Order: sequence, then C-alpha cells, then structure tokens
Amino acid sequence: MTKYIVQGGKPLFGEVEISGAKNAAVAIIPAALLVDGVCRIENIPQISDVTMSLKILEQLGAGIRSINPHTVEIDCTHIRTTRTSYELSRKIRASYYLIGALLGRFGQAEVAMPGGCNFGGVRPIDQHVKGFTALGAKVVVEGGFIHASAKEGHLKGTSVYLDVVSVGATMNIMMAAVMAEGNTVIENAAKEPHIVDLANFLNSMGANIRGAGTDTIKIRGVERLTGGSYAIIPDQIEAGTYMAAVAAAGGQVLVKNIIPKHMDCITAKLVEMGVEVEEKEDTLLVRRTNRLQKTNIKTLPYPGFPTDMQPQITACLSLAEGTSLVTEGVWSSRYRYVDELKRMGANIQVDDKTAVVEGVDHLTGAPIQAYDLRAGAALVIAALAAQGRSEISNVQYIERGYEDIVSKLRALGADIRAVDEPEESESVAGVG
Ligand code: EPZ
Repeated sequence: MTKYIVQGGKPLFGEVEISGAKNAAVAIIPAALLVDGVCRIENIPQISDVTMSLKILEQLGAGIRSINPHTVEIDCTHIRTTRTSYELSRKIRASYYLIGALLGRFGQAEVAMPGGCNFGGVRPIDQHVKGFTALGAKVVVEGGFIHASAKEGHLKGTSVYLDVVSVGATMNIMMAAVMAEGNTVIENAAKEPHIVDLANFLNSMGANIRGAGTDTIKIRGVERLTGGSYAIIPDQIEAGTYMAAVAAAGGQVLVKNIIPKHMDCITAKLVEMGVEVEEKEDTLLVRRTNRLQKTNIKTLPYPGFPTDMQPQITACLSLAEGTSLVTEGVWSSRYRYVDELKRMGANIQVDDKTAVVEGVDHLTGAPIQAYDLRAGAALVIAALAAQGRSEISNVQYIERGYEDIVSKLRALGADIRAVDEPEESESVAGVG
C-alpha cells in the first residue's frame, strides 16, 4: 500500500502542465467501441481509471496499440463479445459507458453494475436506463449485470427529457443514439466540457451530433462510424486542484495547457478568496500572498462551481479569514473527508448538504486517509499548507485521477514523497 509523506508549510513556485481530462477519457475510450475501424486518441492522461478502461476494451476483443504514454490507437473492428468481465468492469464507476457504446453498436450489452462511490450517497443510473428504454432497449439487472438489448435488433431515435442533469446519462444516451434509426433529442442535458469533448470525438469519427454544451442535444443516427483521430481536452478539475494548492500553500505557479473558458467558475471563486489569477491563451498564472478570505460556495452542474472541486476548495477555506458556507448541490452527500481535515485542526461543521467552515490560522500535519479521488486531493492540499508532517494513506484513489501528482508537486517545490507500506487491510474498491 502506498502512502504520501508531506512536510507542509512550503509555498509552491514553478510551472505545472495539465494532463488530459479524466472524465472525458473514461467516456471517449468506451466510445471507441462504436467505431468500426481505428481510433487514434491523443492527450490521454496516464491514470489508473484509463488503464482499467483500456483493459476492459481489450478483454472485449479490441486491439490496443500504445503509440506513446499519452497516445493510443484502439481498433474495435473485431469485437468478440458484448459481455464485460465482472471483475474488471465493477472496479470503475465509468464502466456504465460500456452499456451505451455496446448497445449503440451491437444492439446488446451485458455490463457489471458499476461500483458505488466512496463519498457517501448512492450513484443511481435510473436516467441512463430511462434513455436506453426510450430508444427501444429492454434493460434488466440480473446476477450483478445490467443486461440491455434492442427489442427490434436496433435502436430507434426518440426524445428523452432527463429528470436530473446527469453527466453520465447524457453521455451514455448520446453514445447509444449515434447509430439509432432516425433522430434523438436529449433535453435537460448536462453541459460539462467533457460532454462537448465526447460529442466532438464522435463527430470526428463520423457521427452527427449537434448542441453538445447546451441543455438540448440533437443526434441524427448514421450507418456506421469509420475511425479517425482525436485529442482529449485538458482536465478542468486537475487544473483547479493545482490552483487550489497554490491558494492554500501560497506562492506563484504557472498552470499550463488549460482552456481558460473551462476554468471561469473556479477562477472566479479563487479571486473572490483573494487569489490573483492572470489568464493568458492556454495558461493561468496563479499567485497567493495575503491570507485567503472567506466566501460561499454552492456546487452546481456546469457552468456552476463543479462538485469535483468541492473538497479541494473546502480545504482552502478551512484556512481563510472568516466563516464560509459550502453547499453540495449535486450529490446527496460528499463530506466524508471533513473528519480527516478535522484531525489537522480544521473547524468545520457539516449538516446534511452544507458545511460551515470557520477559518483557522493554521492546520497541523497528521496521519489521514483518502476515501475517494477528490477527497484525497483535498487532503494533499491541506497537508501542503499544514505545519509539520502528514501521512496520507489510500492514495490509490488519488492516482485514479491525477497523473504523476507527486512529481508534479515536487517540481513546484513541495516536500512530498510516495512510500510503500506493508499491506494493512484490503481497501474497498472505490470509484471516481
Ligand atoms: C460524473 O459522475 C463524474 N464522474 C463525477 O466525477 C462528477 O462528480 C459528476 O459527473 C457530476 O459532475 C465521471 O465522469 C466518471 P451525474 P456521474 O450522473 O455521471 C444523480 C470525479 O471525482 N443521478 O452527473 O455519475 C446523481 O445521484 C467524479 O471525477 C440520478 O439521480 O454523475 C447525482 O446526484 C466523482 N440518476 C446527480 O444526478 C442517474 O441516473 C449528478 O450525477 C444519474 C445521476
């Protein structure tokens, strides 16, 4: 089991290069199953969720050729089964995209129920099922697998109005609909940057999708997708996480390879807290010298403040002057990490979806553990800012979504290192 040892209290200086977006990659890789040919995908982040997604495709019969650490060619011409391995596909949350992709190409899919999440509430997929059913599929859950099959052998275009704004359901229905007979409209669709990225990927392979990034997406079914190449967008949340690290630890860092528009909601909040952010074409210069100031946060679907930045920004606010209110507006609960911050001296009261964060003038290092990907990132941020030594365990969750986080932080002057510890106990497979 790997741990991170952090000696906090050192401001960060230097440059950090942002990798490809995890939540785009874990959708685009399964979407390659829709393509009867070779997809060349660039700017893929080197993270364990991507490695797992590629393994699942290989097990289905896809040919995977690694061109370099961030570029892969996926050939799904000869897929030999539409039943995924239970073991592999239950390990990541994003395995549910395999249903939409396999159903969209072959009219059937058998995929293990996705893993639950570690940040509290359930991760339902009723809206995904609503979309598949509307497209003419029969969906049943049996023996831990979701079985989906097109009643007439192929799907038919339709209109789906999502009851909740769901990233996963929007992307899954989009994938199922690209080769359906006729047109499909998804209303009340999610608008995250990775939704637009998936639509652009599919269109570059021959699909006909319009309106991604708005709440109404129109898909005209095509015969087949023939292949092509595509580069994944930079990761908005990874970039936000490094910005939050500078906000908490202080210093000045040039965050490189970002799309400024995607960062607006995060930048605006950090500036409110007293962080200086200088935007250039594909970089942000982030500086924090004076003490952070309180602010209020409510997480919402894009373009609102992203829920995947909620733990990280709360770690910053625990050091701000004054009392801040954080409201989780997307998930039923996402505050398990607060108990770990309290071990470091944070003063946070959680009541249902709201956290009242009373800023303290310093945190102290402590042995803490990550419960999920973004909670883990929040603990790293707190440890960088804290006085003294922290030991962070269960870092496998962090490495699901952050490529080379230790070397990227060390390059900024952080005193952080990864050490291997003897196995203590089996950790529950979590997901991001
Ligand atoms: C994606 O999860 C991300 N994961 C999550 O990021 C992110 O927090 C979330 O979108 C919101 O942005 C991936 O992309 C792999 P949702 P997803 O469907 O698609 C409810 C990370 O840290 N809902 O947008 O599972 C749901 O309970 C991870 O990178 C239903 O009720 O999220 C939630 O309250 C954590 N029924 C809300 O909608 C459904 O069928 C948003 O969920 C689906 C969702």
